[in-house]
Amino acid sequence: MHSSEIRTRFLKFFEKRGHNIIHSASLLPDNDPSVLFNTAGMQPLVPYLLGQEHTMGKKIANIQKCVRTGDLDSIGDNRHFSFFEMMGNWSLGDYFKNEAITWSYEFLTSKEEGLGLNPNLLYITCFEGDKNAPRDIESFEIWKSLGIPESRIYFLEADDNWWSPGENGPCGPCSEMFYDMTENKVGDLSKDEFINAVKTEDLIEIWNDVFMEYEKKDGEVIGKLKQKNVDTGAGVERMTAIMQNKRTAYDTDLFEEIMNQINSLSSNVNIDNLRERRIVADHVRSSVFMINDGVISSNSDRGYVLRRLLRRAVRFADQLGFKNNSLMLIAETVISKYKTFYNDIELNSKKILEEINNEEIKFRKTLHDGVKHFNVLLNENKKITGYDAFVLYTTYGFPVELIVEFLKEKGIYFNSDDIEKFNIEMKVHQKLSQTASAGMFKGGLANHNDKTIKLHTAHHLLLAGLQEIVSKDIKQRGSNITEERLRMDFICDHKLTDEEKINVEAWVNDKINRGLSVVRHEMPLSEAEKIGAQMEFGAKYPDIVSVYIVEDEKGLAISKEFCGGPHVKNTKELGQFKIQKEEAVAAGIRRIKANLI
Ligand code: ALA
Repeated sequence: MHSSEIRTRFLKFFEKRGHNIIHSASLLPDNDPSVLFNTAGMQPLVPYLLGQEHTMGKKIANIQKCVRTGDLDSIGDNRHFSFFEMMGNWSLGDYFKNEAITWSYEFLTSKEEGLGLNPNLLYITCFEGDKNAPRDIESFEIWKSLGIPESRIYFLEADDNWWSPGENGPCGPCSEMFYDMTENKVGDLSKDEFINAVKTEDLIEIWNDVFMEYEKKDGEVIGKLKQKNVDTGAGVERMTAIMQNKRTAYDTDLFEEIMNQINSLSSNVNIDNLRERRIVADHVRSSVFMINDGVISSNSDRGYVLRRLLRRAVRFADQLGFKNNSLMLIAETVISKYKTFYNDIELNSKKILEEINNEEIKFRKTLHDGVKHFNVLLNENKKITGYDAFVLYTTYGFPVELIVEFLKEKGIYFNSDDIEKFNIEMKVHQKLSQTASAGMFKGGLANHNDKTIKLHTAHHLLLAGLQEIVSKDIKQRGSNITEERLRMDFICDHKLTDEEKINVEAWVNDKINRGLSVVRHEMPLSEAEKIGAQMEFGAKYPDIVSVYIVEDEKGLAISKEFCGGPHVKNTKELGQFKIQKEEAVAAGIRRIKANLI
């Protein structure tokens, strides 16, 4: 079954069962500033899952474009894609487990209206239960009533069977469907065998039904929502692979023309460079959709994600022997493959091809020199320092992640001290280019540095103060420090009142007056996440990270942030903190300018 037939069947099936069909929303979330891209079909629907009325009613189905770039290292294997399409049906306070599960089953197995999959090859998981919600016996019974034997239904814990989009928002237990991909049929399995079969990809997860009736705040389930919702998600890529009896979507019609073209552009096609060819295919496909939705390559936020993908694609394309200006040829193939379902990509094709080609030309110019420089440094010093990485970035356009990747391929790890040095160099560089372009460079760099270091520590205290005084939900969206002042953009739903400003200022000055220690800790990324260190949004962190903690007299953390530094050692070095201005910069985003006097 062709991928387009799968999409059509899905939408028709749910339309017939009373669902209104809506278009995919943009990849760029417009009501959730906490993520750079929509990463699941439910994300654009969060307000409606929380109770707001949707103009299209309570039963909706769609196919949503999604981007996930948290795990670029895995791309090139059978299952990971940085762009994918998620088919989903929603009940916004309408039907619940019975209909959701029954329809999933029918769509998967019906020959006439669905995919006609063999029900004997299905495996199911349900939620085991914990302090937040009971064991999901109801779903278990529904699956049994549909004919799935008890021996193929497994109860798993929240790690596997509780779904939420992040630390806040609607969430709930889920029930997942898996399909047997082996020639020789895996048969009945114990729970351990089942878990192992999923690991080895003999069983592939094909659909997830989430029963969203709970709400999370700051990572904790705080209770039930006003309404019971259903959120389901089935990836077009996986479904297509199954329907075409392939282990991976790269071998299906979705990628057929794209991979053929990559193969014809490569000077050498063999099994050893399969991963590289797939990465180029994946990254160009994602880039096409990102640019279509308005992203432009740049050095921050979404633009940086796009730039990283494109530069990574150029680098692998180069390894495969592609000539310059070839990524846009692949992009053309992507556009012609997807234009029937997403007709705006044809309308935007000129812009898409130009952006991709420009980025390729720019990076090609320096790629070879950069690689040469990289190799010389590595041969001479057996390592790449933070300063080297800084030069590779500013002179040759190598995103730091690419350097880390180059090193990893050689079995060398860029350590956290080097990352820190890189960050320091970047900060100084950014400061110098800002002051230089503003014609304000007045000599005495050490002084400037002292001032910016102090402002940097004040910046951490300000974020903590805002979270303490105004709202826990405040998140930083941008920052900029010059020797004149600090500037912070943050997510906040209202203009700060005079009282809030006075209290935040007083809070920060209290921490300064108390002379608290600012301590740098190195820890594994997972640990830093566990202690709730503030992260920079969209950034990818190494396995070992540096976290700056301002500690109170008892050693308790008042502020903790992932940060490369530098900072003062004690808050008493700062002087008096003063908010100069508070204003709006965009919907839901405020800006504070502040200084130390
Ligand atoms: N929101 C669920 C998922 O992405 C369906 O798996």
